[in-house]
Order: sequence, then structure tokens, then C-alpha cells
Amino acid sequence: MSRILSGIQPSGKLHIGNYFAMMKPMIEYQEEHELFCFIANYHAMTSSADGDKLTENTVEAAVTFLSLGLDPEKCFFWVQSDIPEVTQLTWILACHTSMGLLERSHSYKDKVAHGITPNAGLFTYPVLMAADILLYQSNLVPVGKDQKQHLEITRDIAQSFNSKFGETFVIPEPKISDDIAVIPGTDGQKMSKSYDNAIYIFEKEKELKKKIMRIVTDSTPVDEPKDPGKCHLFALYSLFADNDMTEVLRQKYLKGGIGYGEVKKQLFGLIWEYFAEAREKRNQMQNDIGEIHKILEKGSEKTREIAIKTLENVKKKVGLAYN
Ligand code: ADP
Ligand code: TRP
Repeated sequence: MSRILSGIQPSGKLHIGNYFAMMKPMIEYQEEHELFCFIANYHAMTSSADGDKLTENTVEAAVTFLSLGLDPEKCFFWVQSDIPEVTQLTWILACHTSMGLLERSHSYKDKVAHGITPNAGLFTYPVLMAADILLYQSNLVPVGKDQKQHLEITRDIAQSFNSKFGETFVIPEPKISDDIAVIPGTDGQKMSKSYDNAIYIFEKEKELKKKIMRIVTDSTPVDEPKDPGKCHLFALYSLFADNDMTEVLRQKYLKGGIGYGEVKKQLFGLIWEYFAEAREKRNQMQNDIGEIHKILEKGSEKTREIAIKTLENVKKKVGLAYN
């Protein structure tokens, strides 16, 4: 049994790229592993200063996870900022992290290259992420490809701390699943809320239909054979259909005789049905936000017990436990 940890930033509505790459595997892990799942609201602050939006997105992310089947009795589920130890550990780790390590971060460099004026929080983002992971002694961290380097930074920080102060932290491994590494958006690029190509989990019916009809395809006529490997409509279909259905569609693509319009209609039906139960649960939960707050409060109490123990040990090692 592994201790698996991952977090998601509440920086907007969650889309099916987030779902298949991160949320679905996490929800499955709760059955057989010790699962730590949290909402990274401190991280979201590095790119937005809208307080009301942050509150709203944090609650929405919690409701989304819970309505999709995350069970707070089976796992540790909390909001990052409810554990004060995480920022304390961040400072301690920051004092043992070289500037060079952070300066090499692709994610930071990309953001700066895109014209963002970085704040110090954005620069130290990987240290906070290391604290998230090391505080709970997690050994496996499932993330998308884009987070791989952040995991390497965490490992570097943990290894160098351990070699200075003796075995303190578990060295975590990234878990990147190749088949779902990048979920395409409606334009074929990586699905992202920043690219106007995202299909959200809880899209309204009309909007979902519109987005699916807008999925970009090539102009191969209905009768002609099509290449399923090069078609992101097919890729999206295969996420929602079972293996047999996917195989049937693959054969139809190869033979010719099916048009993209027909595939889009089927895809709409599949997606709408796929999230039907979760949509129902979400509607119920939204009528009782007090219950969500209780779940998160209980979750952070349970999680904090572990955080306190790790931080106490770290404080002793670095010389902060003077009394
Ligand atoms: P966005 O690109 O929409 O801003 P985030 O960066 O907030 O999404 O991603 C949150 C999590 O979902 C990360 O683990 C990230 O790797 C994963 N993820 C986001 N979009 C995709 C995608 N299109 N394909 C695979 N994983 C994704
Ligand atoms: N940086 C991650 C992302 O944007 C979110 C995150 C924060 C995270 N802390 C983490 C993921 C710790 C895994 C482990 O997707």
C-alpha cells in the first residue's frame, strides 16, 4: 500500500482534462491506498488576486471532487491553507533550496516568457509544493507531465535536506500515466482553461452540445476512411466509451462511412450520461454548503495530526526546537 498524494489548484472550473488526468485516478486510489488529496489554494494565489473568486473556486473544487465520488471517510481530503504547518515547512525548506534550482524551473520561465510579471510566490511555488508532499511523507505523487520538473525539485530538496540532517523525509516518486498524459481540447491542443478549448465537467446541456459541435476535425468526406490515431474527436470519444464501443468506432473510421457529425452526437450522449450521477449529487451538495464546510474541517483536523508530527521532527533537526 502506497501513500499517494496530489493536489489541484482552485483556479477555475474543472475540465475533463483535469478529470481524466488527475481526479479520476485519485478517486480510484482511495480504495486500495492511503490517499491524500487537497485543494491547493495557496498555489492558486500566485496567479490571481481575486479573493471572492478564490473562495468560490475552492468550494467548487471540493464539491466537484466529492460529487465525483471522493469519500472523505476513506481518504485525507483538505484545503491547503487549513494546515498552518505547510507554510512553516515551506520557509524551512526555502532556506535549504538554492536560487539556481528554482531559476531552472520551466514552468516559472514559461510564465515569465508569456509576459507575466512574477511575484515572489510564483518563484517559490516549487518549495511550497515540496512542503505539501514532504509534510505527509508521501511516496507516490500522480501528476500531469507538466508537473514532472516540480517533482524533481521536491526530490532534490528532500535529498539535500536528508543528507544535511539525516533521514527525515520520504523521497517521493512521480506517477505519470502515459496513455492519459495529454487530453486534447476542442481545437486539438492540450485542453486548458486558458486556451478557450476546455469542456468542463459540469457544463450546461446546451453549452456542452455547442462545444462538442465545435470540435475541430479535418474535411475527409463521410465515405472516406479516416485515421483514428490523428483525430482528437476519436481520442475524446475513447475516454468516455468502453473498449468495445471504441473498437467499433475505430473499425468504422478505418472503413469509411461514418461522418464526424454522427460521432459528435454520440460523444455528446456519452459525456452527458457519464457525469449524470455526479451532476445530481453536485446539485444536492450545493444546497447544503454547511455540510461541505464540515467535511473540510474534519478533513483538515485528521490531516493536521500528521503534519504536526513531521514539522516537530524537522524543527528539532534544524535547531528551531530550542526549549
Ligand atoms: P489548466 O491547464 O486548465 O490550467 P491545471 O494546470 O490547473 O489546468 O491542471 C491541473 C491538473 O490537471 C494537473 O495535474 C495537470 O497536469 C492536469 N491537466 C490539466 N489539463 C490537462 C490535459 N489537457 N491533459 C492532461 N492533464 C491535464
Ligand atoms: N502544482 C500542481 C498543479 O498545478 C498542484 C499542486 C500543488 C500539487 N501542490 C502539489 C500537485 C503537491 C501534487 C503534489 O497541478
